Amino acid sequence: MLILGIETSCDETGAAVIEATDRSQPVRILSNTVASSLKLHAETGGIIPEIAAREQIKYMLPVLTEALDTAGTTLDAIDCIGVTYGPGLIGSLLVGVETAKTLAYIYNKPIIPVNHMYGHIYANWIHRHIDDTSSTDAITFPALALVVSGGHTDLLLLKNHGDITILGGTRDDAAGEAFDKIGRLLGLSYPAGPVISQLAEKGNPSVFVLPRPMIGSGNYEFSFSGLKTAVLNLTKKYTLDFSEGQHSQTLYDLCAGVEEAIVDIIVRKTLKAAEEYSVKTILLGGGVAANTRLQEVLRERAEMQSVPAEIFIPQSSLCTDNAAMIASAAFYMGQKTPWRNVHVDPELYY
Ligand code: KG4
Ligand code: ZN
Repeated sequence: MLILGIETSCDETGAAVIEATDRSQPVRILSNTVASSLKLHAETGGIIPEIAAREQIKYMLPVLTEALDTAGTTLDAIDCIGVTYGPGLIGSLLVGVETAKTLAYIYNKPIIPVNHMYGHIYANWIHRHIDDTSSTDAITFPALALVVSGGHTDLLLLKNHGDITILGGTRDDAAGEAFDKIGRLLGLSYPAGPVISQLAEKGNPSVFVLPRPMIGSGNYEFSFSGLKTAVLNLTKKYTLDFSEGQHSQTLYDLCAGVEEAIVDIIVRKTLKAAEEYSVKTILLGGGVAANTRLQEVLRERAEMQSVPAEIFIPQSSLCTDNAAMIASAAFYMGQKTPWRNVHVDPELYY
């Protein structure tokens, strides 16, 4: 079957077509188009919801057309539409949901409303390449999912498709939010996660050993706001030259220290949960899962601690917001819903 995915929960406008056969196999991407208004938000240092939604109204139809054209298909041939209905920015979510409802009504197609967070998890059930037909990457349950994005840092236990238990989440800032807010303190552009990661490559993580809040808390809760305060105090102590091209070694070292602290907290809790619940697989998802240091440390320590779980990490473009992951979640765990009953839910959790 062919599923059209639509994703507009934050600043991205995404449309994708995936081909899905049976739930024991990963789905295949036929197209995955994403337009972002990130450049506009980089100028303001963060997302202004009204501006994001206005841009999405402009992008939605061209993105949809491109996704269908690239997939070599038409709306008539689509079997159902998966759309993000929450959590996210209300204006942004409305653009995607109203588009999906209009298409469902005109073309008489069923809609599957998708929780954005499940989308991040189901990015793992996508074939790595368009021509990849191997089934060796089949994911086995029980699985532990780590969703690390701009809005969430969650650990979840999946016993089966749709059978999901929350083990813990963040009490304050999410991991991506911590990267972004610390980046702002350091005068770096938004979103700061990838920028900090790049600068950290030239730094020494042992120069600034930053606090790891709640690392030994014995549960799966996270907290990152103390880390932000620690960086704020350091910026008062050191003179950092933030101007473009003038980055100092101190800034590189600080970025390395920040990345190491965030990675250390996430990896420690993830492996503890993997051991406690004897999971067969660990699934990463969300923008921060694209962080190469996180990927490296998780794999290294899992091996060191002899955690037998197989680790799955979507390719970078599937870690950050996209519509293919929404279509994938729609296939594995979604429910067809009459378009009249589909509504946005900005505060949706799990
Ligand atoms: O999943 P996502 O695209 O959007 C949300 O649903 O939030 O995640 C965006 C977040 C941002 O906070 C961004 O700074 C972070 O993911 N991010 C990264 C990296 N790439 C994106 N953080 C650290 N390292 C990266 N390579
Ligand atoms: Zn996301």
